Amino acid sequence: MPRKILVTSALPYANGSIHLGHLVEYIQTDIWVRFQKMSGNTCHYVCADDTHGTPIMLRAEKEGITPEQLIAKVWLEHYDDFRAFHVAFDNYGSTNSGETKEFAEGIYRTLKAENLIDVRSIEQYYDPLKKMFLPDRFIKGECPKCGAKDQYGDNCESCGAAYAPTELKNPYSAVSGAPPELRQSKHYFFKLSSPSCQQFLREWTRSGSLQAEASNKMQEWLGAEGDNKLTDWDISRDAPYFGFEIPDAPGKYFYVWLDAPVGYMGSFKQLCKTKGISFDDFWRQGSDAELYHFIGKDILYFHALFWPAMLQHAGFRTPTKLFAHGFLTVNGEKMSKSRGTFITARSYVDHVQNTEYLRYYYAAKLNGSMEDLDLNLDDFVARVNSDLIGKYINIASRSAGFISKRFDGKLADHALLAKCASTSGLAGKLVEDFPKKNLLEVLQDSAEQIAEMYEARDYSRATRTVGSLLDLINAYIDATKPWELAKDPSNVEWLQGVCSVALQAFRIITIYLKPVLPHLAKDVESFLNVGELNWQDAHELLPSGHGINAYQHLMSRLDPKCIEAMVEANKQSLQPTPPPTSQQRHAEHQQHAAAPIVTEPGDATLPLKNVTMIAPIAETISIEDFSKIDLRVAHIINAEHVEGAEKLLKLTLDIGEPQPRTVFAGIKSAYDPEKLKGRMTVMVANLAPRKMKFGLSEGMVLAASGETPGLFVLSPDSGAQPGMRIK
Ligand code: 2FM
Ligand code: ZN
Repeated sequence: MPRKILVTSALPYANGSIHLGHLVEYIQTDIWVRFQKMSGNTCHYVCADDTHGTPIMLRAEKEGITPEQLIAKVWLEHYDDFRAFHVAFDNYGSTNSGETKEFAEGIYRTLKAENLIDVRSIEQYYDPLKKMFLPDRFIKGECPKCGAKDQYGDNCESCGAAYAPTELKNPYSAVSGAPPELRQSKHYFFKLSSPSCQQFLREWTRSGSLQAEASNKMQEWLGAEGDNKLTDWDISRDAPYFGFEIPDAPGKYFYVWLDAPVGYMGSFKQLCKTKGISFDDFWRQGSDAELYHFIGKDILYFHALFWPAMLQHAGFRTPTKLFAHGFLTVNGEKMSKSRGTFITARSYVDHVQNTEYLRYYYAAKLNGSMEDLDLNLDDFVARVNSDLIGKYINIASRSAGFISKRFDGKLADHALLAKCASTSGLAGKLVEDFPKKNLLEVLQDSAEQIAEMYEARDYSRATRTVGSLLDLINAYIDATKPWELAKDPSNVEWLQGVCSVALQAFRIITIYLKPVLPHLAKDVESFLNVGELNWQDAHELLPSGHGINAYQHLMSRLDPKCIEAMVEANKQSLQPTPPPTSQQRHAEHQQHAAAPIVTEPGDATLPLKNVTMIAPIAETISIEDFSKIDLRVAHIINAEHVEGAEKLLKLTLDIGEPQPRTVFAGIKSAYDPEKLKGRMTVMVANLAPRKMKFGLSEGMVLAASGETPGLFVLSPDSGAQPGMRIK
């Protein structure tokens, strides 16, 4: 029976660019998902932008746009970046969606009904100029321990001390510079300290859903049995805040981390709607579907404590497993803007272009643990060129030409193949390496073993195993020397046999590398003239006499100069602002360091490619929903100003009914009424009439507006008649 699997990667914040640190996770997840799909399992992969919170609100303000405009712009950038790296989400959504809102509210209401929400006043720093409460990271001052100036409200970059913002000396708001005031405000708490939450988490964190390392960490956080270490979780923030308002709590918003993981559900719900998948099959308690969250180790706390407790007490299933990974280092050090190793996805694409090099390198280093992963740039170039080009691609380029030119593209029949692939047929040359089986059998027999490595996310072992198989194939080619065989016409049969063995072997290896190199695998499929390769296909060979296409160049060597140029382009002299505490992804209080103060590399210099800034696309609707709107062609028989109305024009519209309709339209700023008279337009004809100060409005005319100024009334093409339906 195929498994039913739902997979997520952590949702990137909607105010920063995707960088190579983020990509460790997305590539890791995408490889796993592709492997599952190739193995015949039902596997859905969803993600979304994490759009809420103070940093996003302030960044939008700084850019002079609305948060909605900011998140729409970043969404497109992220979407493009993921596509470039072949990260194939089945749905990429946004936490600022109707679906996520509905789930967040539903979960909150259930928790409240279960008596797991508490409301109490807390004291917090308030910026009297900006009129907002300040998250810890937006308060700066002198370190209470070492006196270093301009330190954040939670820890000192200079001496490493951790403290409460109220301990800072001479605090000031990082937003306005004003000295903050302590003020009381009512906050909403999820009662994590309740016995039922504690007991549940104690069991869940030991149930095998976490890697051993993570489980130990959680035990530490939970404390010993009876030792109530968990405190309630503050899930509200005061206005102004960009997020979802809490039901029945005006001016209070869900903290970004409350609705972020709910975004997994929201994004999946969107997929369910478009693909007709049952949401409940995957999320109801007791579901037999598997649910996996790939995350960085820095956000374990949220995923291993808050999230399962929320799900459990709101009546949903909990995750099957959390897969946490470590951070990325570059050349053995934290990614650094001054060294040029804080590399954005966009800049990699611009300089290196081929994103499968990085997928391969990460795969070669990922082992399913929480250890950090190092991208050594010299090693990167060396490995790509020696493994991918030298060992893998060369198999095809060394053998395909003979098959095309000498044998009309036809592979040897299976009898000849068996003879040529067997070690005895090679006069003992390879006998020591595989005494019992022929080369192709050795390759095929590795399918299960490699599958287990992918399943365990031990891609480094998988690529090493593939590497040894590649060594065997290359040893075979070196031993059989097709280029020598080609010189003597009496060897023609051997030549076809040996090159066919090499190409059959190349196909099997392509299957094993396909989760890592999906784009290349596609090109190989067309070169070998085969359909989509799946895992089980490794057990079959291409049929006798199968015709391949002429060899096309599959992959070029990686030029180290591209890497040098990329690093140079990412070098940025730092402003006198401290670097972020965690170089990779940042919880909300940390995120500030990477967002509004230190600008992400390239933010100002990398314009969006071929992309117009648009408002986010609304929730998906069905064709039935759409057909409820009765749109008609309307003839504007009169248009006039309305006395006392600032924005409205009064339109008289003929839509073929006995009586014309009156519509008040807010288009005065854009149109001289005289110019509208006689024009055709489009109106919503079945909108409930609305009583306005100036009279009854019997519909609505359609107009476009966007980020740039202007308002544009719609017109049908010439020939359309009043009353025609628009569908
Ligand atoms: O740390 C981060 O980048 C968060 N935006 C991750 C959220 S993951 C999930 F909970 F939404
Ligand atoms: Zn200090």
